[in-house]
Amino acid sequence: MASPVAGLPDGLAGRQAGPGVPSPILPNGPGYPRIVQAWLWLKKPTWFLDRCSRTYGDVFTMRLPLGIDLVHLASPELVKAVFGGDSDVLRAGEANAAVLEPLVGPHSVLVLDGPEHLRQRKLILPAFHGDRMRAWEAAVREITRAEIARWPVGRPFALRPSMQSITLDVIVRVVFGVDGSARGDELRRLIRTVTAIGRNPFLLFATRDRKLGPHAPWARFIRARDALHAALAAEIRQRRDVPDLGQRSDVLSLLLLARDDEGRAMTDDEVRDELVTLLFAGHETTATSLAWAFDLLLHHPRALGRLVAELDGGGSEYLDATITETLRVRPVVALVDRHVRQAVRIGGHAIPAGAMACPNIYLAQRRADLYQDPAAFRPDRFVGQPPPAFGWFPFGGGIRRCLGASFATFEMRIVLPEVLRAVTLRPASRQPARVRREAVTFVPHDGARCVVTARIQPSAPGCS
Ligand code: HEM
Repeated sequence: MASPVAGLPDGLAGRQAGPGVPSPILPNGPGYPRIVQAWLWLKKPTWFLDRCSRTYGDVFTMRLPLGIDLVHLASPELVKAVFGGDSDVLRAGEANAAVLEPLVGPHSVLVLDGPEHLRQRKLILPAFHGDRMRAWEAAVREITRAEIARWPVGRPFALRPSMQSITLDVIVRVVFGVDGSARGDELRRLIRTVTAIGRNPFLLFATRDRKLGPHAPWARFIRARDALHAALAAEIRQRRDVPDLGQRSDVLSLLLLARDDEGRAMTDDEVRDELVTLLFAGHETTATSLAWAFDLLLHHPRALGRLVAELDGGGSEYLDATITETLRVRPVVALVDRHVRQAVRIGGHAIPAGAMACPNIYLAQRRADLYQDPAAFRPDRFVGQPPPAFGWFPFGGGIRRCLGASFATFEMRIVLPEVLRAVTLRPASRQPARVRREAVTFVPHDGARCVVTARIQPSAPGCS
């Protein structure tokens, strides 16, 4: 598309426009009133995205209330331009802060930009290094087996809550190094309370800062958040004083020991905000991806049969392909956003200051020119075949790529086989679950319901 604005040279992909340049107009998009677009985006997100993509192509603007303009970008070239663009102009922290800062706090890696963001990222990243993850494998297996043991036989139940329980236990254990102790239970209870209130962020934010009494969602959220923050602050203070801090491998201890390029440690407030970030970013997303993986496998018996056969033989190629395909066809996070600070050109498209530039994960990962039969679940497409660059990015990209991507994949690579070796499952419904929005994530509408038809002896290959 030709630039709608004179003076924005094409070479400025992902870079800011110069001073004195008139603000560009937004790319085309649906003309419904903002409130109608918001309703469609909340209630029928995949239908709305598919429709916009068919009508407007790779770039379109969704206009939402409060002057929020989402410019969706769905081609690999445009996604690459955003992820490789100038992060002073395309601000992920600013985009996240509006919704997340009340929960994660002002020092969270999620809401920072510029050098402060890079500093926090560098301090956290070593805690999720591959070598460290191997030390957590036994804990993930143990937690998964304990959860499977609670499943009913012959009666339908929803897998997603069960996966949430596993990933919450795992993240609490990994982050704090605490297990089934009373402190661990209390932390899990506090996290669950905040999560439950946050499931309806629209109700939450509609009551934000209003004096509607102690039972209004915002007031309940603030109480629950403050209780969680206080428990975390106590945990941090105690941990600083333990004599074996240097020998511990949990994330909290590693954060306390981490030093930046100038040799500075993180303050207690910084550590607390990163803990909240990791606890929340790190469990619901993985749990929902696991629930989708089971929902898809149970409705595709050939793929399930091939995976089980591979696991029996000790292989893992099809397992990896299954995870990659699940994250492609059912991305839990549909898009990432960058607040455009100054008018910018992305590919051939001029985007004005104030808009959100949104690499659209859902649409890019369903492109017919990248994937044959793109809506179908076909793990084989990734057997011996890596995903296309910027056509598969369930974990976002550039300097903001998910810090827990390797950890999430590691956890899925343990939980999926553990379940498939321990029980035989059948789906509780004939059709795969529909996509429903829950806060900012895409989840199975029925929680991925299934039935355990048999328990298998724990002597299956790979079970120790
Ligand atoms: C399947 C599971 C997961 C998915 C689909 C997912 C997805 C994402 C996405 C899309 C982003 C935004 C990236 C961007 O803006 O470009 C993100 C950021 C982030 N994720 Fe994840 N995530 C998952 C699991 C995890 C886990 C397990 C952790 C921690 C243990 C984690 C921690 C984070 C953090 C800290 C960020 C912020 C990175 C930054 O702003 O620099 N995530 N994730």
